[in-house]
Amino acid sequence: MKILVTGGLGFIGSHVVVELQQEGFEVVIIDNLSNTDISVLDGITAITDKKPVFEKLDLRDKVSVVSFFERNADITGVIHFAASKAVGESVKNPLLYYENNLNTLVYILQELQKKDSAKFIFSSSCTVYGQAHTMPITENAPVQKAMSPYGNTKQIGEEIIQDVCRTSSSLKAIALRYFNPIGAHDSFKIGELPLGVPQNLVPYITQTAMGIREHLSVFGGDYPTLDGTAIRDYIHVVDLAKAHVTALKKLINEAQGPIYDYFNIGTGKGSSVLEVINAFEKVSRQKLNYKMVERRAGDVVEAYADTAKANEFLGWKSIFTLEEALESAWKWEQKMRN
Ligand code: UD1
Repeated sequence: MKILVTGGLGFIGSHVVVELQQEGFEVVIIDNLSNTDISVLDGITAITDKKPVFEKLDLRDKVSVVSFFERNADITGVIHFAASKAVGESVKNPLLYYENNLNTLVYILQELQKKDSAKFIFSSSCTVYGQAHTMPITENAPVQKAMSPYGNTKQIGEEIIQDVCRTSSSLKAIALRYFNPIGAHDSFKIGELPLGVPQNLVPYITQTAMGIREHLSVFGGDYPTLDGTAIRDYIHVVDLAKAHVTALKKLINEAQGPIYDYFNIGTGKGSSVLEVINAFEKVSRQKLNYKMVERRAGDVVEAYADTAKANEFLGWKSIFTLEEALESAWKWEQKMRN
């Protein structure tokens, strides 16, 4: 079965392509290379012994999208990652985010709607919950007004898909609401490749340990948590990647299932920034240079997943511990720099 992975050379996309190929799916990748490097294709090929078909394509170009689907009429499933994800940038340039994340989604769904049968997996985020009132967060927690245009694109994206699924007899979709993906494939041939200064915690930690950054700034030591730092649910990217394959198979195999559903994808365990730093120091056997600074605007106090729905309906569960995920991120960082 032929599956299109948009943004398939990005951090999460590349790990999903590996899992799909290892499960026997035929994969076509499109990516505009705006936030990754073509060398990721070699990493995927080396791990799986199979080079996926790759086309450099910008999904904002509707004519190219239509032509792509005409040329690849046998594609029956799409896993859609291609999107922008920097919260701060989205506040400064909202229209870029609405164009990149929503126009492209509409163009793809328009093509899928033309088919007799199609499956769609959407890359969503726990950001849709904002600061949830109770922990762990279940899928019943209300979606709250987005704190950034980026977050809004994930909320609107989910609504668009749901609306289309309601009216289409042929399209089935699942949105996966990721918590905080970290780590790298255990071959260390693919991993996270942040361009410029990393915005996310773990790549900032590994770059600091590598000497690329002078110190890590811990954003906020006065949160109402046990040690005063904010809590997140850090999930190994390979666990997250496997969740996509499981969700896709669910859509393929279960004719009777719902036409649209959404799942939290996390470990179910919350870790504070200081706990992450401590765990990193343990696995890397070195002290990390860090300073406590002001809170970062727009950050929530805590967010960790209740994963019961994904466990029950998808039969999926995360396997890796925080230490294992951090160790893989650290090994990847070292390998990448040498
Ligand atoms: C962020 C986005 C989220 C998005 C995700 C994509 C915000 C508010 N949220 O999640 O919408 O889906 O990235 O990957 O930007 N931290 C530090 N120092 C740093 C970096 C981070 O202390 O240099 C702290 C943050 O304050 C936070 C935790 O580490 O408490 C995790 O931060 P990060 O990795 O940026 O992820 P989120 O903010 O959870």
